[in-house]
Amino acid sequence: MAANLAAGGTVIEIRELQPDDANLMAQIAAKAHTHPMSEQTITSCFGRFYYVLGVFVDQQLCGFIILHQLFEDATVMDICLLPDYQGQGMGRQLMQSALSWLANTEAEQLLLEVRRSNVAAIALYLNLGFIETGCRQGYYRTEHGTEDAILMQLNLLLSAQ
Ligand SMILES: CC(C)(COP(=O)(O)OP(=O)(O)OC[C@H]1O[C@@H](n2cnc3c(N)ncnc32)[C@H](O)[C@@H]1OP(=O)(O)O)[C@@H](O)C(=O)NCCC(=O)NCCS
Repeated sequence: MAANLAAGGTVIEIRELQPDDANLMAQIAAKAHTHPMSEQTITSCFGRFYYVLGVFVDQQLCGFIILHQLFEDATVMDICLLPDYQGQGMGRQLMQSALSWLANTEAEQLLLEVRRSNVAAIALYLNLGFIETGCRQGYYRTEHGTEDAILMQLNLLLSAQ
């Protein structure tokens, strides 16, 4: 568990979430994403091999990250924040907490997929040391068609040094 005092005296806490949190997580995902994960899918992410962290501002859940880890491969299944809390460093803090947890696992690489148009998320990942490893053309649905998924990877063995 980590607690930080942000500017203005706001208390930010990052801690592991439980299945009871799935409903609130689905509400956050619905506000953060155009095509969010359903509550049912989120609930299924509390099984074996998953790790789920939430960020709380003044004790209110306002974002989360879901990781899947199996042997050397870890994957970011989702990371999102309520729109009002984006761009204030909490996404970076969630990712860094996730990386701290992964440092104590067998994981050697962290993988993710991101929409080509998602400049904020891509900037965050590049800043953390992710590299682009590929592209799935037309993988995501959009309002008017499809868009590419950019595949990214972070070498955890190098980033831990
Ligand atoms: C993507 C997301 C999790 C990032 O979290 P965030 O709290 O908004 O990002 P942060 O404030 O921690 O910013 C981290 C870095 O990203 C970059 N960044 C953030 N927003 C940006 C923007 N709008 N444009 C460009 N770069 C941006 C900054 O360079 C920042 O780097 P710095 O720490 O060196 O200043 C958040 O914006 C979000 O929930 N978006 C909607 C859901 C989503 O797209 N999830 C990703 C699915 S792959």
